[in-house]
Amino acid sequence: MLDLQAVEAQLTGSRLRGPLLYRAQTTSTNDDAMALAASGAGEGTVLIAGHQTAGRGRRQRVWLSNPDHSLLFSIILRPALPAAEFPRLVPLIGIAAAEACAAAGASEVRLKWPNDVLISGRKVAGILVETRVPEFAVAGIGFNVLGSACDLPVELHATATTLAEQVARPDREQLLAAFLNALDTWYCQLLAGQWPQILTRRRELEMTLGQTRTIQTGDTAITGRITDLSPEAGLVIETPTGQRTIEVGEVL
Ligand code: BTN
Repeated sequence: MLDLQAVEAQLTGSRLRGPLLYRAQTTSTNDDAMALAASGAGEGTVLIAGHQTAGRGRRQRVWLSNPDHSLLFSIILRPALPAAEFPRLVPLIGIAAAEACAAAGASEVRLKWPNDVLISGRKVAGILVETRVPEFAVAGIGFNVLGSACDLPVELHATATTLAEQVARPDREQLLAAFLNALDTWYCQLLAGQWPQILTRRRELEMTLGQTRTIQTGDTAITGRITDLSPEAGLVIETPTGQRTIEVGEVL
């Protein structure tokens, strides 16, 4: 169980202040939040689960976690943005998640495009943003908090970490409040038209800049040197056949 009052007591934002709804177990907080949003739930509503039986990741993957070891939640957003600008929410959520880890005491927190949160090169959190444009977006985040990466499925042992491996006293209430406070700040900036500042911050956090990597986009894998983020936070890469911009995909 999460102490929701302790989370609420730490909220400092003006816009994203709950309500905070907790379920000991659910299929997926994103599913719950999408359904609640479709039935009219307000912006800032947060669905938190102690355990998910059908957690979803990006690209149709499953998101596995041990009961009560993670911070699993989804937040409903109703941004007054043109449809074309809804994808800007993706880097925004990544920034807030990275800053929440830093507020928890982690150093070396970076993002791997498009939106994996890594500490010292290992994934500590995943983000799944789903939208019903132009009405709402649901941002679901799963932080590995307690235990060690060895408690996760064996295929993740080499690439994942938990907050407990990185900071002295991981605190899920503090982590959730820090995320909501950071998101509130960046979200207000987004709505105020300050996308350039957000892009600058997102660029600062990107760990793959300057690296030669393979990027999966649709059915195609492209290898090249990642030189920059594009004006919409896509990846700019130099390949043997010239410069390309990839807006949707994943750095492998
Ligand atoms: C990824 O890295 O592939 C994204 C993982 C997103 C997982 C979170 S956990 C809370 C929310 N509910 C879900 O079913 N998925 C997201």
